[in-house]
Amino acid sequence: MFARGDSYQRVALSRLNQVYQALGGRRALKYSDAMSYGADQILTGQGNSDYERYIRTVDLLKLQPEPDSWKHRDELLFTIVHQSSELWLKLAVAECDEIVIKLKSGDILAALRLMPRIPLCITNATIALDMLEQMSPWDYQQVRRALGHGSGFDSPGFNAIRRAIPKLGVEFFRILNEAKITLLQMYVNHEKHDEIYRLAESLVEIDERLITWRARHFKVVERSIGLHVSGTQGTPVEVIGKLRDKTFFPEFWDVRTEITNYALSEENK
Ligand code: HEM
Repeated sequence: MFARGDSYQRVALSRLNQVYQALGGRRALKYSDAMSYGADQILTGQGNSDYERYIRTVDLLKLQPEPDSWKHRDELLFTIVHQSSELWLKLAVAECDEIVIKLKSGDILAALRLMPRIPLCITNATIALDMLEQMSPWDYQQVRRALGHGSGFDSPGFNAIRRAIPKLGVEFFRILNEAKITLLQMYVNHEKHDEIYRLAESLVEIDERLITWRARHFKVVERSIGLHVSGTQGTPVEVIGKLRDKTFFPEFWDVRTEITNYALSEENK
């Protein structure tokens, strides 16, 4: 697949034009002619091209309301931010399930190769939040009316994340126990326990990115509707403020304090 500005595409189009005109073609072919979908499309399904059929763009692009049914000006923006976040979280959960299988089978390196995908998914959902701040606080009030009792607490993506991520912790602590070392010992001798160390740090990375998402979400909520009000399900905004530092893996944060105290005790010997 080549992008519109791709030089390969331009060369191919210019050669096609030479042949076309030699055969008596009256006008120069345009990019759109070259892109007309011929017999070389091999997949079945809805859409004119294999791209549309494979990506299922026909179904996908039907999932956003058309302007004539919009209840407010920002319906498309609001829907796309939420839908795309759900998709990134769906990928994060799928990768998480796969990583758990790898860890159960003892393949730590394979798990480590997949691990960065989870924080990347969460970062994409975090960046998507920026778009919501393009709505004015007053315009958001129109959005709120259209939402019914729709609330982020019912986000399938986040609820699946809440169930999936702790499974990584279970596998990690099983592996740590099997190595017969404590978390502190592993961190102090991290070079000796490199795989376990990298596993631990990838869980910290996931935890930190989720905390970053919550902090960002909280600010977006405050900027949109204010602090001393309740959401569509009656939850005071202050409550999500308190959830900000919620962690899946408190042990990994506590061990930092233990490491510092241990280092200090060694220095004082
Ligand atoms: C302007 C945009 C947004 C506003 C004003 C907003 C508002 C709120 C409010 C007030 C709550 C508390 C529960 C309630 O009463 O509804 C909440 C919770 C939540 N929202 Fe949003 N939200 C926004 C965007 C998003 C987006 C894009 C997502 C991504 C899927 C999301 C996911 C969540 C989640 C997961 C919770 C549960 C709290 C947690 O687990 O930390 N929200 N939101």
